[in-house]
Amino acid sequence: MTETDDTAYLKALLYHYEAEIMGEAYFFAMADCFDDAAEREKLTLLAAVERHAADTVRPLIDKYGLVPREETMLKTIGEEFTEPHRHFSWRQLMTQIRDEYPAYLDNFHALEEMAPADDLTRLQRLTLHENVLIDFAQREMANDPDSVMPLRRYVA
Ligand SMILES: [Fe+2]
Repeated sequence: MTETDDTAYLKALLYHYEAEIMGEAYFFAMADCFDDAAEREKLTLLAAVERHAADTVRPLIDKYGLVPREETMLKTIGEEFTEPHRHFSWRQLMTQIRDEYPAYLDNFHALEEMAPADDLTRLQRLTLHENVLIDFAQREMANDPDSVMPLRRYVA
């Protein structure tokens, strides 16, 4: 990596790590918006996937001496992201994940492309979490009774 590439990579790495912490808080806060116990449990699982994704890249954050913002601040930001979605029905939320999350995959692939080879295993596992979320939402929309299977497998 050139020095410019290096700076862009580290910035993107830190951004993605922080985004997963925010994502965890987002799904926990969304869980509070639903009354149905099964839906709340599914959102808690989505939060666990986000935390697992963050944990997967945490060693890279430490390896490069990057300093994420305080978790309390990241959590507050994540909770604020729920604002436009707080009145979504379950189907609206699943539609939003299914239709809008694939665009984020480009960012994850861009991060992989910037990364040194040593970091790729962790970053591919980070990218995988986005596919897992989309897979789950697709299964929900198809009324798959085992829709949580990809989530459980990812965090296992
Ligand atoms: Fe995420």
